[in-house]
Amino acid sequence: MQKTVIGNWKMHGDLASAASLASEVSNYVSASVVHSKVVVCPPTIHATVVAENIAGSNVSLGAQDSHFEEKGAHTGEISAYMLKDAGVEYVILGHSERRANLGESSQLVAQKANAAKNTGLVPVICIGETLQQRESGEYSTVLKQQIEESIPESFTAGDFLIAYEPVWAIGTGKVADVETIMLTHKLVADAAPEGTHILYGGSVKPDNAAEIMAINHVDGVLVGGASLTSESFNKIIQAAESVIEKVAA
Ligand code: PGA
Repeated sequence: MQKTVIGNWKMHGDLASAASLASEVSNYVSASVVHSKVVVCPPTIHATVVAENIAGSNVSLGAQDSHFEEKGAHTGEISAYMLKDAGVEYVILGHSERRANLGESSQLVAQKANAAKNTGLVPVICIGETLQQRESGEYSTVLKQQIEESIPESFTAGDFLIAYEPVWAIGTGKVADVETIMLTHKLVADAAPEGTHILYGGSVKPDNAAEIMAINHVDGVLVGGASLTSESFNKIIQAAESVIEKVAA
């Protein structure tokens, strides 16, 4: 059994803070983490300095988006090839902030996911319903449709990860309760290729991480705010380790 803990730094920090956060996480992982997969996703401009500071550790480098073409006239964009070349292994795609603020469709997410996989990156495909969709009961149709349209048909379980992130729980401090996470992860597991690893995201903190990761079909967490300091992020990694050890015991 493995748990994956991914830190999504979003648009935070500078070169100096990225370097120190990366080295604090990698020192912790090197000293005490054996079971979990730990990934940090800094802003792309900080990827190289983070790569230097996690070199030789078991921490992997991730990115927050990538283009679907390898190169070309796409001002401001970065391709999966460029990320891979800089040492990136994972890429978050279709985060709800990009879907909502930049109008990214599931079809675009699928194109990006295909390119990322073909380049040798592991796409972390995000899905999630809004509060209105949750309350109206539409969430199940919405999630199934996001899965069908965002995940390329050729993908099998080992090719990618899903991050289920209810939009209403992101950055709000409102974490979904255990029953909601359990039922929704089951729904996602049933709709996705068999055996797909599914992460939960949305206000994951040191004090709720272990409880969340102990839920069936929760194979790890995608962490925003609490990944910005090593103090809280390392505690979440520690929670992943403790859940794995408990199950193994
Ligand atoms: P949050 O963000 O942990 O700050 O809620 C999660 C995410 O957006 O991936």
